[in-house]
Amino acid sequence: MTIEHYLSGKGTRDRLAALPPAVLLAPLSGVTDLHLRRIARRLGATAVVSEMVAAEDLVRGDAESRLRAEGEGVLPHVVQLAGCDPHWMAEGARLAEANGADAIDVNMGCPAKTVTGGQAGSALMRDLDHAERLLAAVRGAVRVPVTVKMRLGWDHASLNAPDLARRAERLGYAAVTVHGRTRQQFYTGRADWAAIRAVAGAVAIPVVANGDIASLDEARACLSASGAAAVMIGRAAVGRPWLVGAVAAGLAGRPAPALPPGERAALAAEHYEGLLALYGARMGVRHARKHLAAYADHGGGLDAGERRALVTTTEPAEALRLLGRAFSPAALAA
Ligand SMILES: Cc1cc2nc3c(=O)[nH]c(=O)nc-3n(C[C@H](O)[C@H](O)[C@H](O)COP(=O)(O)O)c2cc1C
Repeated sequence: MTIEHYLSGKGTRDRLAALPPAVLLAPLSGVTDLHLRRIARRLGATAVVSEMVAAEDLVRGDAESRLRAEGEGVLPHVVQLAGCDPHWMAEGARLAEANGADAIDVNMGCPAKTVTGGQAGSALMRDLDHAERLLAAVRGAVRVPVTVKMRLGWDHASLNAPDLARRAERLGYAAVTVHGRTRQQFYTGRADWAAIRAVAGAVAIPVVANGDIASLDEARACLSASGAAAVMIGRAAVGRPWLVGAVAAGLAGRPAPALPPGERAALAAEHYEGLLALYGARMGVRHARKHLAAYADHGGGLDAGERRALVTTTEPAEALRLLGRAFSPAALAA
């Protein structure tokens, strides 16, 4: 499936059945920055979604929100908006579109109390009439395709994702993503891929299945259990942004492009330097830490002391040297 099919709003499941499934990079707040998205997309992710952006903050001109919604060099540029007020969500969508967003994704899945406490994120699944008003306001505000990301429901007593998906479809949403957990589960247990089947059966628009996919085999198993048209990968791609494209290639029956350690190190360095440029050196170093730790873990070439040094150094030249070592075959062989 190409992103055009995925986002056109014309891509019913039947029409898409003959195409390889789309594989998307999930929105991860504080993680899927502009550079990670750029790299993942270049390496074959069907699409990438921005970190959630609080719609009201974006409209009020908050600098951090603008950075989160940045999409230069990312095509298509999908901006995820969070909020509970239809007015601010519509205004945020308008602004994101004016700034170049190719699609808007509405967050109805975030379980964090700071988000649900404000009745946004997955809290919206407790009141589907309100959720529908919010979806309608966003749909009405922009011309670009709109999608929505949700959980299975608030808890196991209210698995209302199929109902919410039907409402989104009726409003003209192009696709829905379902993380196979309830809000009350947060990130515990395993994502229930089979439970997503109730959503896939409820709507004709593409359903994207999400949760605990970290390999081609798991992507295949998830597609088969859920009946979804596409998958979305989040945490497993941190420290290896090439994973999403590799899974997409595998589902399309193509071998994943070979990526020698030196190229992995170069991608990690590009990401690191990009963060310094985007956030400035001081903030950039802090933003980069979780990525450096993940690159060290996936590279496998650093001992515990070097890993600590990589994560804590404030010297970009030292971080780059250690990143090179993290992925160097010589270090791996030592
Ligand atoms: C650190 C972190 C940040 C997240 N931020 C967002 C977000 O901004 N928007 C969203 O819809 N989901 C967010 N999620 C949920 C993920 O998009 C995804 O649904 C979840 O991690 C399950 O997929 P995975 O097992 O592939 O990671 C976040 C998850 C984590 C762990």
